Amino acid sequence: MRRLHIFELHDHDWFPDTWRDLFTDALSFFEASMDLYAPAARLLELVIDGEDFVIVDLCSGAGQPVVTAVAALGDDIAGRVRVVLTDKYPNVASLERLSKESGGLDVSYVETPVDALSVPDDLTGFRTLFSSLHHFDEDSARAILEDAVAKRRGIAVFEFTDRRLLPRLLVYWLPFLVRLLVKTPSIVPFRRKRILLTYLVPVIPVVLCWDGVVSCLRSYSEDDLRGLVARLGDDDYSWRVGTVRSTGPFRVTYLIGQPQAGPAAATR
Ligand SMILES: C[S@@+](CC[C@H](N)C(=O)[O-])C[C@H]1O[C@@H](n2cnc3c(N)ncnc32)[C@H](O)[C@@H]1O
Repeated sequence: MRRLHIFELHDHDWFPDTWRDLFTDALSFFEASMDLYAPAARLLELVIDGEDFVIVDLCSGAGQPVVTAVAALGDDIAGRVRVVLTDKYPNVASLERLSKESGGLDVSYVETPVDALSVPDDLTGFRTLFSSLHHFDEDSARAILEDAVAKRRGIAVFEFTDRRLLPRLLVYWLPFLVRLLVKTPSIVPFRRKRILLTYLVPVIPVVLCWDGVVSCLRSYSEDDLRGLVARLGDDDYSWRVGTVRSTGPFRVTYLIGQPQAGPAAATR
């Protein structure tokens, strides 16, 4: 099925920040509670080296996937990793909570907007994007990857949405919605607005349904990802693309790029 670049509601500037924060909180909660990005830990382990490895997570939302992945690495590796969470529309309350309650991990966040299309030079480190590359059309996605190559940063992209998943997602849609309706009171922090906008005026379920289906329709396949990085970095940058099984019907598609030895080691 061809990739369709339809809009997601929470991408727009007009979308209220409170709604976006409630949405990214719910997404983070599902990704963590269903362990959807468990395979990301094993893949990140392969690229982490040195005593002080910085991960700059772009499009962090509420920030949980990268923190869960690093936590799963075990103390000896996780202890050498610093995570910096960033977003164009930072969910400051959740990022702050995560940085304070990340169980001994070194997690910080940038309070001001960081656009993945224009990452400031002082944010140095290995870049990650979870559930986010599909937000960008081909030209923008390529620009994100090109910038990492130009600055000799490593970059890893992970997506649990999948164009093939759409028919199955529709079948699983009802239980998925039921899960949202049942679990919403346990999403932290408890917010009255979350209850109101889930049960009384069902904004969050509607956004989750629309943006969830659209995310599937515009996800990049392995072949698309290979196309995006064709000729990028030539011989001094290596790319790995693949798909691994995750929880239940879900799979994680990934793209990992790393500069080869040389000045790369200083900038990763
Ligand atoms: C689907 S959410 C994923 C959030 C998080 N990575 C996760 O997996 O839970 C996409 C995120 O991308 C952010 N975003 C959208 N466009 C962006 C851009 N140009 N630069 C940085 N972040 C952006 C949104 O604010 C949102 O938090």
